[in-house]
Amino acid sequence: MSHPSQVTDVAALKEKIAAELAAVRHRSLAYTDADDELLMRQHSPLMSPLVWDLAHVGNYEELWILREVGGITPLRPEIDELYDAFKHPRSGRPSLPLLGPDEARKYIAGVRGMALDVLDRMDLAHPDPLRAGGFVFGLVMQHEHQHGETMLATLQLSREPGLVQEGDLPPGRSPGLAAAPEVHIPEGIFVMGAGANPWAYDNERPAHRRHLCGYWIDRYPVSNAAYAAFAEDGGYENSRWWTPQGWEWVQSKGISAPLFWTEDGGDWWRLRFGREEPVPPDEPVQHVSWYEADAYARWAGKRLPTEAEWEKACGERTYPWGDAEPSLDQANLAHRAARPAPIGAFPSGASPYGVEQLVGDVWEWTDSWFQPYPGYRSFPYKEYSEVFFGEEYRVLRGGSWATHPSAIRATFRNWDLPIRRQIFSGFRCARSED
Ligand SMILES: [Fe+2]
Repeated sequence: MSHPSQVTDVAALKEKIAAELAAVRHRSLAYTDADDELLMRQHSPLMSPLVWDLAHVGNYEELWILREVGGITPLRPEIDELYDAFKHPRSGRPSLPLLGPDEARKYIAGVRGMALDVLDRMDLAHPDPLRAGGFVFGLVMQHEHQHGETMLATLQLSREPGLVQEGDLPPGRSPGLAAAPEVHIPEGIFVMGAGANPWAYDNERPAHRRHLCGYWIDRYPVSNAAYAAFAEDGGYENSRWWTPQGWEWVQSKGISAPLFWTEDGGDWWRLRFGREEPVPPDEPVQHVSWYEADAYARWAGKRLPTEAEWEKACGERTYPWGDAEPSLDQANLAHRAARPAPIGAFPSGASPYGVEQLVGDVWEWTDSWFQPYPGYRSFPYKEYSEVFFGEEYRVLRGGSWATHPSAIRATFRNWDLPIRRQIFSGFRCARSED
């Protein structure tokens, strides 16, 4: 027997899931509202053609919601292989017999209609962990939002203007005047990882206790102005700031500034969604690799925070400001504007320690390799996290302006190769107590 209040909660949860599914689909369709040629073209060997992402999100939804949970016969088993991210590296995807844009839109709409039927009849209190609390819908929705962010990175690499919507952001506060640039976090034990959150991923679990020595962490992400000072001080020409691998990367690729930056007569310009503009000094730097973040930190007499230090600075809650979903004065998420907000724009989004802009604006590189937490168990499949564990990928935290709130939380872990910088990546620095 269900208690009436539980019934209401279940109905409300189903309504919320349906609304979030509609919102993420609206987003995917907006990013692919372009001519077929642009959607079919590969804009960089690092990225899939946009039309691949479009059909892939629907295929993932079919695999997990329709087949795995709904027990529905495959709609188009012959295309599964094309959209399996592990079968074909991104560079080879344009040569596959992919669905065309119209066919892809039709396919994902058909899948979605059936997914909503599965939602309708699903028991959200079922003991199966895929069904409990609607986990499988959270999985599919976060996945589609993550591809939304990937699509934005592809649109940035396309260098085509006019495809990405702009928007307004609150003004910044001059960090020099507002507060001390560093915050002290005292020694102690904190609980790292996701506890009760029903939609957290396997790599965020289990929650566990960690002891950290006291440390200092920057109140704000590193700004463009601060990063430009590193470049202008010869940061890219001096091996002492770089790890051997980082130095080798800089030398062999001829790197001398963040991706999309150019220098003209002492002024920095950047290309952002197809338009050249002066680099705004007061925004967090983005499109830097882990190697660049690490070198800057050494030049500044600091280091990158570990991911445990980054997470502790959030104050052991869902978001730095608390457990409530972000309001517009707390974080720059969900593509409200197509760029990071200026330093100091979100005093209301500060953590209990007073650390700001941890969530939103730019993904923050940490010093940590992507490794399992003690007691980790893969769920629902090994290829989500487990195959990436080791000393190849560095962890990024906090999400960017392009990240949707459903796909970010203080415990959320992203990972990438230390050379990658087409993502919306920046960083902040930390240092140990003297
Ligand atoms: Fe995917």
